[in-house]
Amino acid sequence: MLTSTDVRPPFLLSLSLALRARSFAFVRGRSPDSAGVSIDLPVQAAEDSPPVNKPIVIKAKGKVADLVSLCDEEMEGLGINQGAAVTNHAGIAHTRWATHGPPCAKNSHPHVSSSNHEFVLVHNGTITNYRALKEFLIKEGEVFATDTDTEVIPKLCNFLYSKLPEPIPFPQLVCEVVKQLEGAYALLIKSSVYPGELVACRRGSPLILGVKYGIQSNGTPKSPTSPNTPLTPKLTGSTASAPHRTGEQNGLELYLASEASAVVEHTKQVIYLEDNDIVHMRDGEYTVYNWSDVDSASVEVRRTTQTLTMEVGQIMKGGYDHFMLKEIFEQPETVAQTMQGRIKATPISPMKFGVPAVDKYLVPRVRLGGLVDYVSIIRRSRRIIFIACGTSYHAAMCSRQTVEELTQMPVGLELSGDVLDRRMPIFRDDTCVFVSQSGETADTMRAMEYAMESGALCVGITNTVGSAIARASHCGIHINAGAEIGVASTKAYTSQIVAITMMAIVLAEDQISKRTRIDEIVESMLDLPESLRMCLQLDESIKELAEGLKDESSLLVFGRGRNYATAVEAALKVKEVSYMHSEGINAGEMKHGPLALVDEFMPIIVIATMEDADMHNKMQGVIQQLMARSARLIILANDDDTEMTEIVQGKYPIVRVPRSDTAVQPILNIIPLQLLSYHLTLKRGHNVDQPRNLAKSVTVE
Ligand code: F6R
Repeated sequence: MLTSTDVRPPFLLSLSLALRARSFAFVRGRSPDSAGVSIDLPVQAAEDSPPVNKPIVIKAKGKVADLVSLCDEEMEGLGINQGAAVTNHAGIAHTRWATHGPPCAKNSHPHVSSSNHEFVLVHNGTITNYRALKEFLIKEGEVFATDTDTEVIPKLCNFLYSKLPEPIPFPQLVCEVVKQLEGAYALLIKSSVYPGELVACRRGSPLILGVKYGIQSNGTPKSPTSPNTPLTPKLTGSTASAPHRTGEQNGLELYLASEASAVVEHTKQVIYLEDNDIVHMRDGEYTVYNWSDVDSASVEVRRTTQTLTMEVGQIMKGGYDHFMLKEIFEQPETVAQTMQGRIKATPISPMKFGVPAVDKYLVPRVRLGGLVDYVSIIRRSRRIIFIACGTSYHAAMCSRQTVEELTQMPVGLELSGDVLDRRMPIFRDDTCVFVSQSGETADTMRAMEYAMESGALCVGITNTVGSAIARASHCGIHINAGAEIGVASTKAYTSQIVAITMMAIVLAEDQISKRTRIDEIVESMLDLPESLRMCLQLDESIKELAEGLKDESSLLVFGRGRNYATAVEAALKVKEVSYMHSEGINAGEMKHGPLALVDEFMPIIVIATMEDADMHNKMQGVIQQLMARSARLIILANDDDTEMTEIVQGKYPIVRVPRSDTAVQPILNIIPLQLLSYHLTLKRGHNVDQPRNLAKSVTVE
């Protein structure tokens, strides 16, 4: 298999695309290295011929703002009034995150079939057989202008079109093209030979269709059930002969994007497109087709419209300077949302004939609707395996011990990519839990497909309703943390730990021996919002701490037990946004190598909270050994830890957090460390919401 490394953040398309559309700003929260747009503009082929609409393409290296400036210049040069209203207009736009082929206007999307722009498209994903296709097209006389895998697609469209004995509908042509592609794609395609039409399709990469209904003659918006506006696509057979109402008549606006946050400002009515779906837009209406195998034609399908629960406010900064800071500060509310309606404050015994119907100690304290029908299957599993990437992996690492403690089952932890790399043995009596904020991470999705093939029960824990993992898993938990826009995951991490802890409780609620322990954990979880608010008050002191660390080149974070996960997650936050090298180290491993790094200059954060007496003793020992080597320490301790005051004797700063239960304390401990990564980034002069080279959803392997 060949690989290509063009990996891109979300693109946005609006049928009534205004280049300055605020929705386009949503993709600015990511870190594109180039961006591009294509809209139809009247072009005069010859002096005496009338102008005809043709897709023009404008591309710029840099951020979306650079593209907007370039568009302004070009529009002015062409004498185009950008404020003028347009109807039935199909435009496409894209932000690129390059890992193969340098970031430049040439490699940016949209890509074109030739300078005549017969076919113009944007692509998320990766085409793995692009070299073979390119070789074939070169032999046919095509000349390639970019370093990307994507360029083969518009050229293939044009090649197949030129070989047609007679014209076929646009979606049919695209269907023939995508059948030649291997890999993953979400594509938006415009064409000068199909003027005013647009085709979108997907396989392996996310794509959603937002549907905004027009205004009725009485001034009220047409509801999805309005007889004038089809909720589902028309089911009218051939697209070539189908009667179309114009966009002007029905006022329908259609948006295609790789994630819901890009369209929520315009509409909450969305369709999550499925693999091999092809959407055809023409005259302001749309039809969805699907093809199942290369030998069969596509057939028209009905896709259900869903209403987004996301609010526009979630994708705005809401008075904060950055999304990351907003999301850190939202955590008292987001963890409460994760628990809302799921955790009972007190176990209430149902009464029957005036007496408790069941032993009150067996009344559950946690109910997870998405798991109800699967709890007994999970309990009977051979083992539970958590599979995830990055921060989601750390959340699973942190909560694994709680699952082991409460269920007494073997609990594995795997990086999604590694499951596939080593073809890890998975069995039909395993339960695999896939943790993913976006629900679209390609490695995690591929690992889930692999586990499905092995017959394992697949549980999804995601933050994105309608995401690939949420849809494809057998059952799951939605963490309800609200849209996370900052590239660095913060609030999703704490909500993921809460969700996995609730899952552990649900699995153990049939054991009387675990009842007291469950009650202890639940009480601490219910206190979480208040305790998190106390942690957030550390903001100013953490800012000062960041001042003293901002010029360092490295930062070590020591933790053990559940707080080993806190250490590696803190290190990930620091490196991904502040670009300072940072490493999370299991303090139990200190003498097995890392101690060599210790000197009076290397800053070391030691997580030494008291929730577990044994662990606390061990961490005190670690601190003493580090002090004996004149290490430069920053201690994270509980606010009532007087012993730590005595040990440290004012030599090192101590960051104090409230005390909680062993299962819950790491959720509090990560807060000052998230704040530290935020302040370090600002002090080092970097863009905290747009870290270089990173994208929010890694939708290719
Ligand atoms: C780090 C971060 C990444 C993601 C990882 C997995 O702050 O956000 O490490 O956690 O790319 O993404 P999801 O959770 O969407 O599967």
